[in-house]
Amino acid sequence: NKGSYEHYMQKEIYEQPESLTTTMRGRLIRGGSCKAKSVLLGGLKDHLKTIRRSRRIVFIGCGTSYNAALASRPFLEELSGNIFQLLTGLPVTMEIASDLLDRRGPIYREDTAVFVSQSGETADTLRALEYALENRALCVGITNTVGSAIARNTHCGVHINAGCEIGVASTKAYTSQIVVMAMLALAIGDDTISSRTRRDAIIDGLYDLPNKVREVLKLDQEMKDLAKLLIAEQSLLVFGRGYNYATALEGALKVKEVSLMHSEGILAGEMKHGPLALVDENLPIVVIATHDVCFSKQQSVIQQLHARKGRLIVICSQGDSALVCTGGSCRVVEVPQVEDCLQPVINIIPLQLLAYHLTVLRGHNVDQPRNLAKSVTTE
Ligand code: UD1
Ligand code: BG6
Repeated sequence: NKGSYEHYMQKEIYEQPESLTTTMRGRLIRGGSCKAKSVLLGGLKDHLKTIRRSRRIVFIGCGTSYNAALASRPFLEELSGNIFQLLTGLPVTMEIASDLLDRRGPIYREDTAVFVSQSGETADTLRALEYALENRALCVGITNTVGSAIARNTHCGVHINAGCEIGVASTKAYTSQIVVMAMLALAIGDDTISSRTRRDAIIDGLYDLPNKVREVLKLDQEMKDLAKLLIAEQSLLVFGRGYNYATALEGALKVKEVSLMHSEGILAGEMKHGPLALVDENLPIVVIATHDVCFSKQQSVIQQLHARKGRLIVICSQGDSALVCTGGSCRVVEVPQVEDCLQPVINIIPLQLLAYHLTVLRGHNVDQPRNLAKSVTTE
């Protein structure tokens, strides 16, 4: 039931304050006067010790689920430090399920393999799970569908509880997957004196995230106006790095899969190694430059794009317009700032809205884009 919405994708974008609340329900613990704030993932509690002792974490998924895992890698590397690893973070590697299978890539018994899938039925991810089980890795599922093949066949896991997702383009599942992986990182990592402040800030940030999502959804009209400007374009580039490299890939995936406009997510650090050749006064480029440890590097990317007369749309933190838009003209989209590692949850939303409006304006099918299926059950 779409209720008052015209499309499921629109409804699911708007549902995110509620879906994120459900994802976190009962899993965050505020802590008493002398007790630390913490997380409780019922599905993992008996396996945490094995995960902590593993040699690495390897994420496996396809499409948007892969991008959600990529968004989580930096904070998992940072927060997964525990006593078994002498408090240094676990190595985290990434595998697109089909590529892992093509290579029969190395998966070892000492690995924790994390399978991320909204449907829990994607054929490539499922085959990769069988392969990892044969190799005797600990297999963990992060799925939205109770009773799905991946939920049933993993050793343990976490349901993201985002509610049923109908639009082929995944939106609310993406943000809930990232939130689950943030909770996973907090659960794996040890609560030490040195990490306490950071962990508390992330837990407080998680509590406040639904409010911040409500705030960023107010950009709807602004993104519709931007879509009107871009309606006839052939292509759109999206530059990101650090916590928001995944946001660039996922934003571009949203635009291409529903609006049928060519779009490419680019790691900003690779700009000079090819993509810069495409830059001129015509090609629209979105640059994600919210406030984090990579901010000054992104400022310098913006300056170099300005020097080539790039047509820029910059996503930045509230109040940063003047800092990102020096030395050239650009359109700025200001978003609320949250704890840096949770910022991908906020930053993807204007891009989801942009993809949605572009699709409607271009007259394409939003909920069932041509040639695509919600759940790809053949290899
Ligand atoms: C569980 C209940 C929830 C209840 C809560 C109360 C279910 C599905 N969930 O939630 O209704 O409110 O306890 O404490 O009954 N699993 C996998 N692979 C996956 C996903 C999950 O093996 O991909 C396993 C988990 O290891 C766990 C079970 O499925 O054994 C349920 O997982 P999850 O729903 O995340 O657990 P809780 O949050 O504890
Ligand atoms: C399909 C969907 O390609 O499968 C995407 O159209 C999705 O939206 C991808 O990201 C992976 O699906 P799942 O269910 O494994 O997350």
